Amino acid sequence: MKSENVVWHTTAISRADHNRLHGHRSLILWFTGLSGAGKSTLANALEARLHNQGCATIVLDGDNVRHGLCGDLGFSAEDRVENIRRIGEMAKLFINAGVIALTAFISPYASDRRRVRDLVGDDDFIEIYCRCSLETCEDRDVKGMYKKARRGEISEFTGISSPYDEPEQAEIIVDTDQHTIEACVDQIIAELESRGTFQKLVTADIASAG
Ligand code: ADX
Repeated sequence: MKSENVVWHTTAISRADHNRLHGHRSLILWFTGLSGAGKSTLANALEARLHNQGCATIVLDGDNVRHGLCGDLGFSAEDRVENIRRIGEMAKLFINAGVIALTAFISPYASDRRRVRDLVGDDDFIEIYCRCSLETCEDRDVKGMYKKARRGEISEFTGISSPYDEPEQAEIIVDTDQHTIEACVDQIIAELESRGTFQKLVTADIASAG
């Protein structure tokens, strides 16, 4: 913190109050993977399912957030660290407001993902690795960026000229180059169910969420 003269102000309405109003607990569903691996598509499809069940949700997406809050950041290592730091802090604000935050960022550095996990705690952070070979992402090349990166027109492009640390402790891994979007969403929901996440979302945890 830059200034010492800032004092935390406790909010009148707590996270538990928000959770009770919404009828479910809040947490972060953190999608990570290469560009084109399907993070945004899956986060949006999962959000639709949760929304239809009456959950309060938000999707935070790299390309969108970089149009506003993170519009001052590029793709150097330093800027990516700052990008993920801001997203982590923002997602934390949303879980404190009782909202399930689905984040879709490449988030290439394991240390940054770990920092967000530590910021909110293991219970509130579910890492979902959208695993897809670079080859398939390049074949898809939805935005034409891989071609540009190969031609050297985009520098520091993840997977080509900038690293991606594969998750070693992701709670969920979806192989998006082997299954349809619907099948991947089904898998994520089944795994969240088997982890008890949904029970936690709808039961007494609401009362104890701080
Ligand atoms: S992150 O590395 O900081 O997590 P973020 O998810 O916000 O990245 O943004 C990634 C998106 O920015 C990609 O989907 C792609 O459309 C675009 N992009 C533009 N330049 C780059 C680059 N050099 N590396 C990766 N993605 C890039």
